[in-house]
Amino acid sequence: MITVSAPGKLMLFGEHAVVYGFPCIVTAVSERLFVSIEETDDGNITVDAPQVTNTRFVDQAIADACDALHITHHGLHISTQSGFSNKYGFGSSSAVTVATVFALATLFQKNADKKTIFDIALHTILSIQGVGSGFDVAAATYGGILTYVKGGAVLEPLHWTMDDVSFVVGYSGVKADTTALVGEVAKKREKQKLTVDRNFEAIGNIVLKAREAGDRGDWETVGKLMNFNQEYLRNLGVSTEKLETMISAAKQAGAYGAKLSGAGGGDCIIALVSKTHVSDVVQALAGCGEVVSVEMNAEGVRIEQKEEKL
Ligand code: MEV
Repeated sequence: MITVSAPGKLMLFGEHAVVYGFPCIVTAVSERLFVSIEETDDGNITVDAPQVTNTRFVDQAIADACDALHITHHGLHISTQSGFSNKYGFGSSSAVTVATVFALATLFQKNADKKTIFDIALHTILSIQGVGSGFDVAAATYGGILTYVKGGAVLEPLHWTMDDVSFVVGYSGVKADTTALVGEVAKKREKQKLTVDRNFEAIGNIVLKAREAGDRGDWETVGKLMNFNQEYLRNLGVSTEKLETMISAAKQAGAYGAKLSGAGGGDCIIALVSKTHVSDVVQALAGCGEVVSVEMNAEGVRIEQKEEKL
């Protein structure tokens, strides 16, 4: 029997452009999803996953991991437990997929490295969702704050020292439909290719500048770059009135910068705030949304508990 956990994620910079090959910056968050697997002897696979919207990701992850890692078993019982609600868009599907693959690899002593876990989980996610850059799979697997390029072409940990600043997260109350939003941006691009591609390029440059500014601890610049990134997301048509209200509230309360995080259309906003302004920004966001208490830079997939068979 083994229990592993994988973290959720938040996009810091570069959403949507990352789907078209530009880099993004993603962080793993402290909220985790837990998967326990035990081998049985009845030949059946049973899944008990009350908090996961559907068990498709678990079922497919088992099939893909067994196939890729040559696992043969006599039956499996899998149960999941989530430390976060899937309404926030923290990536419960990618976390449950990564955790399932890693749990199986460890239980059957397959000695798979993180890139192998990432590749299998990404294959599972894409075979179900069809679209996506895989940044969420990267965060769940590797943890930390990462510069990421689609498919894992770049997977570079960033070592940001955030002693004087925090990201404050606010939930808009609306669940985003990532697949639909990625589709809408694609449709817009069909009609206005040049304009949309210019937006993506600008976002790609913002990501590179944000990485440099974060590396040298220049949080004022990182905040400004979040505001620029948000302008381009607005141009792409994925922001909403509610998100804009929350972003303005955070900035007015003293945040260095704020933007939506993820596909847009709903889900969360993130604000970069100096430690001295956190309570002001929390109060401002509580007045127009739900403040979500979550830490960034969390550890990637890990073993929580392992019991050897007697
Ligand atoms: C969604 O959270 C972020 C997008 O860039 C999609 C993706 O990267 O898979 C819109």
